[in-house]
Amino acid sequence: MQHGLPIVIAHRGASGERPEHTLAAYTLAIEQGADFIEPDLVPTRDGVLVARHENRIDDTTDVARHPEFAARRATRTIDGVEMTGWFTEDFTLAELKTLRARERLPQLRPANAAYDGRFEIPTLAEIIALAKANNVGIYPETKHPSYFASIGLPLEEKLVAQLSEAGWSDASAPVFIQSFEVANLKRLKAMTGIRLIQLVASEGGPADDAAPSYAAMLTAAGLDDIATYAYGLGPQKELLERDGADTGLVAAAHAAGLKVHPWTFRAENVFLPPADRSGSDPHATGRMADEMARLLSYGIDGFFTDFPLQGAKARDAA
Ligand code: G3P
Ligand code: CA
Repeated sequence: MQHGLPIVIAHRGASGERPEHTLAAYTLAIEQGADFIEPDLVPTRDGVLVARHENRIDDTTDVARHPEFAARRATRTIDGVEMTGWFTEDFTLAELKTLRARERLPQLRPANAAYDGRFEIPTLAEIIALAKANNVGIYPETKHPSYFASIGLPLEEKLVAQLSEAGWSDASAPVFIQSFEVANLKRLKAMTGIRLIQLVASEGGPADDAAPSYAAMLTAAGLDDIATYAYGLGPQKELLERDGADTGLVAAAHAAGLKVHPWTFRAENVFLPPADRSGSDPHATGRMADEMARLLSYGIDGFFTDFPLQGAKARDAA
């Protein structure tokens, strides 16, 4: 990490080039110059924190090919969304370790699908060990913390305890904890001195009932409130730019004393429905680099990217 420069955060690892949230994706990110690797965290049935973007694992593992787990298929409503599939909280760590990761977006990232079936689901402990061995930071996100607390699997205590065991408990640690949920960050604030990041999406609001909408969070008063419990803001990058021009959010956040780490720079438009992706350029790294350069010029303090190699190049050129 180069002191004072914007940080490059490998989003789910180098997830543009390896199946997301695998030790292979994190290792490649480190080789490519990421300053931080990002595990999204969910718990197993026996309370172990593992890295998955969501607790429903059918899109990113081979669980559907395991007849021994067929009866675990379930329907759940999580943060107001009903879904059917297999969920990490129904598996012990030992059971999850028998699954293998697969690429979430094989149509957009066919080269990644060549790694399907090769990698395990990593634990937070394994990710911490990898980060420490390579002198990079970690940037964990607590996923669905209110839901997990409601089923007796709260995330905060385990996360803080594991970070503490690693010697990371104050603002000097190479760690940021991010969450969309305000109540989760406020709980963490009472438990640790680790730097906290309030995530903000371009629409809607957090799952915790008492939280303000994202739009309210981005007013001057809202930013001042965030600064009472968080070190920085993690906005969806579209909030920073309108019609190719700076919206002023970076300056407003800085005025409130908050750092700004937007998400997520990637080469492909993964949000288009599959039928509409034919026109997108899967190798549009030039366009991604231009976008990184523009947002760096607005004064961001770091950014999440699926392509840390291009991220580090854009950061170093800025
Ligand atoms: O954590 C920043 C960004 O990763 C939030 O989006 O859905 O990729 O976890 P998501
Ligand atoms: Ca995340």
